[in-house]
Amino acid sequence: MSKLLMGRDILHVKDIKLEHIDLVMDVASRFERVLEGGGTLTNMTGKILATLFYEPSTQTRLSFETAMLRMGGQVVSVTDAKSSSSAVKGETLYDVGKWLEGYADVAVIRHNEVGSAQELANGADIPVINGGDGAGQHPTQSLMDVYTIQKERGRLNNLTVTLAGDLKNGRTVHSLSQLLGKYGPRFFFVSPEELRMPPEITHLLRDDGIEIIETPDLTLAAAKSDVLYMTRVQKERFHDAASYERLKGIYHVDEALLKVCKHGMTIMHPLPRAGEIAREVDEYEGAAYFRQATNGVPIRMALLALVTGQV
Ligand code: NCD
Repeated sequence: MSKLLMGRDILHVKDIKLEHIDLVMDVASRFERVLEGGGTLTNMTGKILATLFYEPSTQTRLSFETAMLRMGGQVVSVTDAKSSSSAVKGETLYDVGKWLEGYADVAVIRHNEVGSAQELANGADIPVINGGDGAGQHPTQSLMDVYTIQKERGRLNNLTVTLAGDLKNGRTVHSLSQLLGKYGPRFFFVSPEELRMPPEITHLLRDDGIEIIETPDLTLAAAKSDVLYMTRVQKERFHDAASYERLKGIYHVDEALLKVCKHGMTIMHPLPRAGEIAREVDEYEGAAYFRQATNGVPIRMALLALVTGQV
């Protein structure tokens, strides 16, 4: 059972099945309990993780690196890889993949282009984990989001979930809608017209029988939701600064909005927030976004250990 993900790349949620999610959450909570009980883990002793970050990140990179160190492993990394790596000399990700196995046992890549993680994986013999490819996918974020929902709500089925913000460019919501879709939720997709969820994703979900209500009205959707997942307007994906300026402040969660929501509604955000959630909301018991960020470490520990067969 624990060999289910051994040797596998984690590139896209379409390849992640319910049994994989169960396994990752199981191992994550087991690891979490060991660390919380003051124990230590040595699963990754002698193993090396390579982190290749061609796009900015704080939380994702730190959580992968922390995860590795907490299990006795080591890390080699290229940050700011776009300007400081041999990408500037024209080296392709495929070629990097070709020699990477001489350096590391597993790799995480973040890149601005959709399909970049796949490209690295095409060249590499070691497991490659997608840490975010442009406006494409962010599968490990979605696994920690699902884990967070399970912990906060006690279940994953029969939930009404609002995904709000930049649904067009946000890779977190592209991945999460498809992963959560496996549990038969009712979705509200809240965005301005220009930032709607890509139709290929809504079609796939509707074909699976998922009810989706698309609306620009955050209040209407939030009032009916068990989980409200906010996202930032993805500045780096805009070609024209004026459009970004017009859309960036469009949604704002504050105490006034909370008053119309169900008692105990869970609020999530992949972070960084850029004005979507007022600081006053941080005190609210259902504000789960910092706990969500913390959950990234055990989930990534589980993933690293599982793909390298160290569980
Ligand atoms: C997200 C990302 O990079 O896609 N952040 C993250 O990984 N925690 C969300 C975002 O940048 O808006």
